[in-house]
Amino acid sequence: MLVAVLSVKGSPGVTTFSVALAARWPSPARALLVEADPSGGDVGTRFSLESTPGLVSLAVAARRNDDPALLWQHTQTLPGGLPVVAAPPDADRARAVLSALADPTTGAGVVRAAANAPDTVVIMDCGRIDAGSPAMPIVRSADAMVLLTRAHADDLAHLARRLPAIGRWTAHPAMLLVGDGYAPAEVARELGVLPLGRVPDDPHGAAVLCGRPRSLRWGRSGPAHSALGQVAHKVAKVLHAEQEPPAALPRQGPVESQPVPVLRPVPGVPANPVSATGLRLAPAPPQPNQENTSRGGHAS
Ligand SMILES: Nc1ncnc2c1ncn2[C@@H]1O[C@H](COP(=O)(O)OP(=O)(O)OP(=O)(O)O)[C@@H](O)[C@H]1O
Ligand SMILES: [Mg+2]
Repeated sequence: MLVAVLSVKGSPGVTTFSVALAARWPSPARALLVEADPSGGDVGTRFSLESTPGLVSLAVAARRNDDPALLWQHTQTLPGGLPVVAAPPDADRARAVLSALADPTTGAGVVRAAANAPDTVVIMDCGRIDAGSPAMPIVRSADAMVLLTRAHADDLAHLARRLPAIGRWTAHPAMLLVGDGYAPAEVARELGVLPLGRVPDDPHGAAVLCGRPRSLRWGRSGPAHSALGQVAHKVAKVLHAEQEPPAALPRQGPVESQPVPVLRPVPGVPANPVSATGLRLAPAPPQPNQENTSRGGHAS
């Protein structure tokens, strides 16, 4: 199974959540994290990894073969034992490597081949993405997608018009809100899609997943014990359950030719209920003792 994790605006914690998702993927599946962020990798620096093996060495090797074992041969290991293929921190280099890897005649096959193996999940940190991203071919070949967004009005406004197109990138798209902001029901009412859940603001849990402090081994302080890690585990279980056996097989055609997937539509809400001027966030129902108080910038 191949899961693409991404954002379309800001830095809502895609890398952090990707590490959590891979670290907390339910057994018996073997999970592996691949950094596919065209703006450059962070995991290598955060966890003081060697510069190789990683995405660069994988791209070179993938020119010659698409053995399912190849991806595993280019991993290093995070403190909890999670295998990771780290991207180079330099954005130009990362883009070049991803362009090579995303070429269907060479690199993309190696990621897909590994993800097709039984009881295997490849989590791809695709970073902030747009239509021109070199990671886009990998996103489109994924079985599932997790879109992270903060839940303030400006973040949601950027998403509103793009959601119908984003929902067609993969067969199983899901949206996660990060931190405080509008409630899932409010987001659902305005965007027409129901978020899968909310990633809590968890500075300590996030710091561990970002390799801080550097000497820390995971164990009692690891993602299994943080609020962030626990949400990641629940999301992993939902994504895992959504995968029917045929979905793990290679696709037969372009995504556009397949049945139109949905980003968890809400019954009765039009697919794109947004005005031409942007996102309309509906007023919240008045609180019992706040009848005359106008609404603040975001919901708690
Ligand atoms: N749920 C969270 N709660 C608190 N802090 C978080 C959370 N997720 C991430 N962070 C913190 O936010 C910062 C950015 O996180 P991260 O690198 O995962 O974001 P990103 O979306 O991958 O950014 P970029 O677009 O630059 O790759 C890190 O310092 C991380 O510790
Ligand atoms: Mg990142």
